Amino acid sequence: MHTRLTERLSITHPIISAPMAIAATGKLATAVSAAGGLGMIGGGYGDITWIEEQFSSVKDGGVGCGLITWSIDERPEVLESTLDLKPKALFLSFGNPECHVQKIKDRGIPVICQVQTFKDARNALDCGADILVAQGAEAGGHGETRATMSLVPELADLIATRSSNTLLCAAGGIADGRGLAAALMLGADGIVMGSRFWATREAGVHENMHQAALQATGDDTIRSQVMDIARKIAWPDRYSARVLKNGFTDRWHRNVDRLREVSEIESARWIQAWADGNVAVANTFVGEAVALIDRLETAETVVSRTVREAEKLLNRNWETGS
Ligand SMILES: Cc1cc2nc3c(=O)[nH]c(=O)nc-3n(C[C@H](O)[C@H](O)[C@H](O)COP(=O)(O)O)c2cc1C
Repeated sequence: MHTRLTERLSITHPIISAPMAIAATGKLATAVSAAGGLGMIGGGYGDITWIEEQFSSVKDGGVGCGLITWSIDERPEVLESTLDLKPKALFLSFGNPECHVQKIKDRGIPVICQVQTFKDARNALDCGADILVAQGAEAGGHGETRATMSLVPELADLIATRSSNTLLCAAGGIADGRGLAAALMLGADGIVMGSRFWATREAGVHENMHQAALQATGDDTIRSQVMDIARKIAWPDRYSARVLKNGFTDRWHRNVDRLREVSEIESARWIQAWADGNVAVANTFVGEAVALIDRLETAETVVSRTVREAEKLLNRNWETGS
């Protein structure tokens, strides 16, 4: 399936796997790229030892890496070390990319900026991003409140008038060919899928979390900040993360002030539960698209089926419905 995205990145299908911290291993990124998409390593908060390990496991090159922007603002050396690993693209999310974009472009590496609002999209264009990702609130993991359905065409229109050479991907709630076809119709050049690739055999995910997700519906997710309070990660206040609800979110989501008071005990409990795969306490990071996932598959199966389904839909005869 060819779009401007496949041309620009020299890939076969317009599908990028999200740089999901911890879950998006070198193994997953390699599998996605081998299947014809662009695989991303989830560099997250910038543990450079982990990032280097993931790159060393990459076969045949050709994977990108994502970093959390506000985190590298505080530690710019992480970006330098990551660029030395020669990622195929660098994916920045959550924060102002202004002081990083030129450094990346100077190395000849395409810059992908994931944004959650119109205002941030305008800023990312001003900074010189090569590709924008419009991330809707349906998404798993961190994000904000705008919905994919209206954010994507709004940013497509913005790009058309301000910077038509910049490409656009849609993210949030996409897990199959229906989502890919819809994203293209909304004006995107491709998609970023997180939750669907999280639920693959190659992802770095505890088995109990995979099993919990396979049982869940979209209603079972919530956007909350309590996991970051528990993990003592100082996320800027505007962001929350979508996870599966459990006893921990039931207890603390509407009682954040009290959680902060008892954070020492609750933090230790949550972190231990994460290590143990205890999904009653530690939250499973996944989006509303969990509803569309009923089995663990390989990344190759996900990519090929998504493309096949989308092509069928895009060629559909709408009069007969066949
Ligand atoms: C488990 C998980 C971890 C994530 N971690 C990150 C991250 O570290 N950096 C990032 O830019 N986005 C992260 N995201 C968000 C993705 O970039 C993407 O926007 C999202 O997965 C798209 O929505 P979907 O999950 O419905 O496919 C994460 C998503 C998930 C599900």
